[in-house]
Amino acid sequence: MFNNNLAKHITRVIHWVMALIVIGLIALGFYMANTESYQFYDLHKSFGVIASLFLIARLVWRKFYPWRSSANGTKQARLVRFAHRLILILLLLMPLSGFLISGFGGHGVGVFGLQIIPSNYNDSGLAVRHNEFLTELGYFMHELVAYLLTALLVLHIAAALKHHLIDKDDTLKRMLGTSKN
Ligand code: HEM
Ligand code: HEM
Repeated sequence: MFNNNLAKHITRVIHWVMALIVIGLIALGFYMANTESYQFYDLHKSFGVIASLFLIARLVWRKFYPWRSSANGTKQARLVRFAHRLILILLLLMPLSGFLISGFGGHGVGVFGLQIIPSNYNDSGLAVRHNEFLTELGYFMHELVAYLLTALLVLHIAAALKHHLIDKDDTLKRMLGTSKN
């Protein structure tokens, strides 16, 4: 349906928009959770839902138009494919666990003011949990997966920079769309 160049361009746009949102969510998430800055929770959830929509778009898109990694045909091809899949799986677990925290925890989820999962506050304004176990599982997963994802993304970015600065190959340029290949 789409020609090859347009398809690559769409993959790049999805990659960079998501990269920006996810790096922002990680920074904001750690900041707000460690400083108990509850005024940022709604913003975090709103962008978390947007990130989930991009992720779904990306998973569907790469089924039809897979990104041909520059590692293809090298010794590291399988490792790179595994690392990219792992990033996507961990990314999927982030919003899932976020929904467990906020949905079963009774806080609800809104996207820039539009409530998509209702809150469950009592008369004193405190959130009443729908399910203790699932809420705690959500907190546990969200934090653990956030650390794993952060570590993997640091490696991912370091690998991209190594290709660009040390190997001086086209890996990063292809993702930026500035490669002649
Ligand atoms: C790709 C998407 C997401 C990323 C990368 C992300 C990242 C993070 C990070 C790094 C933290 C700090 C973890 C900690 O130290 O406890 C956090 C906290 C949190 N996130 Fe997310 N998040 C995402 C999506 C969501 C979604 C969709 C929701 C809810 C619908 C959500 C709700 C929360 C809440 C409530 C906290 C605070 C937890 C606490 O108080 O300990 N997140 N997030
Ligand atoms: C400054 C940050 C980033 C840089 C420089 C970067 C660079 C790249 C490059 C060069 C590739 C192509 C690799 C190849 O051809 O084998 C790539 C692919 C990929 N990147 Fe990133 N990236 C960044 C951030 C992120 C973030 C934050 C995420 C997660 C949200 C991410 C997820 C992925 C995935 C899943 C692929 C594989 C493409 C696919 O198979 O769909 N990247 N990245």
